[in-house]
Amino acid sequence: MWCCGNFGASGQHAPISESAAWADLKQHVKTIEGTHLRNLMQDNNRCEELIKEYDGIVVDLSRQRVIHDTVDKLLNLAEEAKLKEKIDQMFDGVHINETENRSVLHAALRAPRDEVINCDGHNVVPAVWDVLDKIDAFSDQIRSGSWLGSTGKPLTDVVAIGIGGSFLGPLFVHTAMQTEPGCAQAAKGRRLRFLANVDPIDVARALLDLNQETTLVVIVSKTFTTAETMLNARTVRTWITSALGVEAVSKHMVAVSTNLKLVKEFGIDPANAFGFWDWVGGRYSVCSAVGVLPLALQYGFSHVKKFLQGAWSIDDHFRSAPLESNLPVLLGLMSVWNVSFLGCPARAILPYCQALAKLAPHIQQVSMESNGKGVSLDGVPLPFGTGEIDFGEPGTNGQHSFYQLIHQGRVIPCDFIGIIKSQQSVYLKGEQVSNHDELMCNFFAQADALAYGKTREELVAEKVPEALIPHKMFSGNRQSLSILLPNLTPYTVGQLLALYEHRVAVQGWIWGINSFDQWGVELGKSLAGKVRTQMNAARTKTQPLSGFNYSTTTLLTRYLQGKTQLLYPDPHDVFPSNVLPGFEK
Ligand code: F6P
Repeated sequence: MWCCGNFGASGQHAPISESAAWADLKQHVKTIEGTHLRNLMQDNNRCEELIKEYDGIVVDLSRQRVIHDTVDKLLNLAEEAKLKEKIDQMFDGVHINETENRSVLHAALRAPRDEVINCDGHNVVPAVWDVLDKIDAFSDQIRSGSWLGSTGKPLTDVVAIGIGGSFLGPLFVHTAMQTEPGCAQAAKGRRLRFLANVDPIDVARALLDLNQETTLVVIVSKTFTTAETMLNARTVRTWITSALGVEAVSKHMVAVSTNLKLVKEFGIDPANAFGFWDWVGGRYSVCSAVGVLPLALQYGFSHVKKFLQGAWSIDDHFRSAPLESNLPVLLGLMSVWNVSFLGCPARAILPYCQALAKLAPHIQQVSMESNGKGVSLDGVPLPFGTGEIDFGEPGTNGQHSFYQLIHQGRVIPCDFIGIIKSQQSVYLKGEQVSNHDELMCNFFAQADALAYGKTREELVAEKVPEALIPHKMFSGNRQSLSILLPNLTPYTVGQLLALYEHRVAVQGWIWGINSFDQWGVELGKSLAGKVRTQMNAARTKTQPLSGFNYSTTTLLTRYLQGKTQLLYPDPHDVFPSNVLPGFEK
């Protein structure tokens, strides 16, 4: 029998699904099918074994459809996949992103100054701290008003332009920090906006009520070639220069990129550029200048440093804790169990905390761009599906939206995330519980509702009419896990981020895929280029469309004819903000 560490006759690694550990788990599914969470939850020893804790974070896996043996078998699978070696290779700077021949060292972005993390024979930590120190100094200059705009005014507003990993991570962390009292205090009088979509509506919204004289623009793009970001960057540069002149760019525009050559060509002074490295994947880049610069401008560097420290706490745990008590490893193994063995390809991310509203959108990219792959690292089509379909909303909003399906429709493993001490507090006289307690009552109730369900017998005892009984029954036995954080501070936000990042990597390593490339996004990009060429020809030379199928030709023709009044090039720049009240030309 092949195992994942061995080579088949073709010289390629056999997929993990051909290993004995995988077969053993397949067999074990039958045992688990004979159990119900209603009963499993009665075993206190089992539950105790499945509640794990590290550095203030409690992870409760007791509502997963597992018994002691399941975890053992999953750990065997991890051994089969050489998980420990993979973790070590990542921290050792091995080029594990094989299709791009790159190391994967986002953990180095949050390493303490005295840590040594090598990439191609060089310790990268000093270079990381050079950039962090530069951000510290620059953000202080902006925030203190010692760096002024071109007309001598302080720059109180920041527009961060970027998409995908150059947007979602920073937005997640910004949303999480916004109402934390220390951060809110530090951000007084300042605004941070994001511009991601190339949709002019997003431009209008991002720039609404902003004044060029008091705005700093941060262009964030790892490659500095992403079509959406570069068009938005040119748009906002025009917005700046049309009011303040070209010379204002050096005071009002800075960049974050690995491609400092293109930054310079765009017209940004290299002194105003904040670099990072090809060993940081876009969706893993929030701890580089990608996130640190906009966040430090808004909240001050000291708060962002705590966020980095929180992430490092999990990094250190991930690289050193034994697999059986390693939180990202256990979380990743549970996901593999749910996806590959229990047939649940989706996962709901349900934070009972409004400040975590942007966690699910961020993890959608981290998880789905990483693990939505069809072939093994060797390029061999996989005989099983990889990746998880991630979605989510903060509780309790989600409860009033899609939980119906989760309770009585499809089985969707859920991640419930709760906070012990809320960032904000409301407690009304005469109410039974405080507002946060009310929120958390739902956090505790939902997990048990999913696990236990409701039986016919219970409904009969409640004298529910017979005709309604089938509609009111809940099968239960629906798995979830709960993550309880002591509070939501920059530190714990960093922990949560790293927990999910490494969990995704664990899943990818077990499945034998490359979680660090993203070739699947390329085809759509290149086809858009083809459409762009024809769109321009049709608009400027009224050239007929060619080379498209019937469907695209029909819709494209309808589109082009539907707004012929916008024949371009126009003699002047047009801004969507013109149509918005409050826009100053
Ligand atoms: O969508 C593909 C992608 O390459 C993502 O991986 C990345 O986060 C995003 O585009 C933005 O890329 P960049 O930072 O180079 O503009």
